[in-house]
Amino acid sequence: MKIGICNDHAGYAYKTKLIRLLQSKGYETVDFGTDSDVSVDYSDFAHPLAAAVESGAVDAGIALCGTGNGMAITLNKHQGIRAGLAWNSEIGRLVKAHNNANVLVMPARFISYQMAVRIMNTWLETGFEGGRHARRIAKIPCNG
Ligand code: RB5
Repeated sequence: MKIGICNDHAGYAYKTKLIRLLQSKGYETVDFGTDSDVSVDYSDFAHPLAAAVESGAVDAGIALCGTGNGMAITLNKHQGIRAGLAWNSEIGRLVKAHNNANVLVMPARFISYQMAVRIMNTWLETGFEGGRHARRIAKIPCNG
């Protein structure tokens, strides 16, 4: 499975460690930057990740910024993206089980690195429940 990952300066430190962890688990990763903690605009990194998920160049995505909201708002402008913000592992489970999020967004300034790992692992290991949740997703404009 190929995972794309993007971040702004606030998410850079966690991103570098999460990529190493993903690779150690056998995932292929594509890093969409940014590549330092120098201040940047999250939208410059969210759009390329979204395009890669939409095209199938990567199977799913992970995005990190300070609050997670800039990334989530930008990613969800794309028709093929369901980006879900998670700040604990139960929300990481639900965002896949109920929302089938194809991009996991995390608020790097508001969770520990250990929590980011737990959220990511839970999201990766959880399956979409389908059923009533598939019906609800089908009613999201442009996300049917
Ligand atoms: C950067 O200071 C911050 O605004 C950004 O990481 C994010 O929180 C935006 O939503």
